[in-house]
Amino acid sequence: MSKKICVIGTGYVGLIVSVGLSDFGNEIIGVDVDPDKVDMLNRGISPIYEPGVERYLKRNLETGRLSFSTDIDGSIQGSEVIIIAVGTPPKENGEADLSFVENVVKSIAANLNSYKVIVTKSTVPVGTNRWIKEKLEEYAPGKDFDVVSNPEFLREGKAAQDFFHPDRTVIGYESEKARDVIFEVYRSLNLITVPFVWCSLETAELIKYASNAFLATKITFINQMANLAETVGADIHTIAKTMGMDGRISPKFLHPGPGYGGSCFPKDTMAVVQTGDKYSVDMSLIRAVIEANDRQKSRMVVKLEKLLGGFSGKTIAVLGLAFKSETDDIRDTPALNIVEGILKHGGKIQAHDPKAMDNFSKVYPEVQYCHSEFDALKGADALVLVTEWNEYRNLNLEKAKSLMKGNIILDTRNLLDINLVREKGFIYEGVGRG
Ligand code: UGA
Repeated sequence: MSKKICVIGTGYVGLIVSVGLSDFGNEIIGVDVDPDKVDMLNRGISPIYEPGVERYLKRNLETGRLSFSTDIDGSIQGSEVIIIAVGTPPKENGEADLSFVENVVKSIAANLNSYKVIVTKSTVPVGTNRWIKEKLEEYAPGKDFDVVSNPEFLREGKAAQDFFHPDRTVIGYESEKARDVIFEVYRSLNLITVPFVWCSLETAELIKYASNAFLATKITFINQMANLAETVGADIHTIAKTMGMDGRISPKFLHPGPGYGGSCFPKDTMAVVQTGDKYSVDMSLIRAVIEANDRQKSRMVVKLEKLLGGFSGKTIAVLGLAFKSETDDIRDTPALNIVEGILKHGGKIQAHDPKAMDNFSKVYPEVQYCHSEFDALKGADALVLVTEWNEYRNLNLEKAKSLMKGNIILDTRNLLDINLVREKGFIYEGVGRG
């Protein structure tokens, strides 16, 4: 039977979860403190760019199963399942800031008018769900509730696909009653035989961190191999592809680049190191990954500076600002390091991104933002490709050459055909293409 669910927080995860669970037939009320955002959502407008999400948003608003509100108290009271999807940004020391979660817990405690299952979707450090349980017992003694940890594995840009066809669904739980409720919430996934992992609260919490830290390590591994390959004259793509033929390794997440970014890997790797420190457990591997990733981002700036013989007085076309394609998210994007490095040393930037220019211009208003990639190339001494948008893969090289003043290309994603680019008279460098 479908459930009445209140999703608290309509950020990235909260929004996708709201539209997704409502598409499964549940009755969802999404809650946010921002009245403008709530109004936008109720009118079917998504505050973030994410392929497919607006379509699902409109479709479920129309059925009447989905709505958004600022009324947290009433929304909690009217629901059996409360999903916490508020942000857990990193503090100065890398620890996850749980103050938003704590505020939500206080609101839940004040509105426990019947049995409720409290589900944590936000990525929270190990021990947080038990802490939520203890806090609720303290603030609302004797009330009937259960706590469940249900981490999310969505990728930005592919969130709808990941929500409806996940590799697995992880549920940390402690009571059979809660298990039955969650089973109903996700009944549609069970029908398409998605594996369910039923485990303890702590195991569920750590599965999320272990997965993200492993993927960050895999990327960092291939980036370091790429740096070695380009130095010794080897080709990282052949190496990665061949490594991936070994079923134990898999070819996924072996794409070299300018270093990983986004709202998850940088934050979650730091948080896992913090947890290790807290319990005096050696996390030196993940610590090394974080440092190597920072160096990879700086390496792109050094490469470009060498190619140009210094940035002073030079104009650089930066194509791609988002941390990856199909998103307007610029959190921890390598473009921030590259733009900062160029501006700091006296270079001028003409930038283009299909979706992320608005967000980027709030951080770097001094950059010149262009309507098209070709506008960005006009009079440029060099081109640096930072995000793997499809439209950059098929860049018209002849047109690019005629528009640019110089002939340097730094392709941090290895998007272009190396032979073709050199044939057209460019000086080209990728990552790991010796
Ligand atoms: C990541 C995980 O992939 C999701 O499973 C997880 O749910 C999410 O974090 C989260 O914790 O919420 P996301 O940050 O959206 O998803 O993006 P990814 O596609 O994983 O890419 C992360 C970064 O790694 C990007 O900067 C990307 O360009 C980079 N990357 C990825 C590479 O440099 N090489 C690769 O082979 C793959």
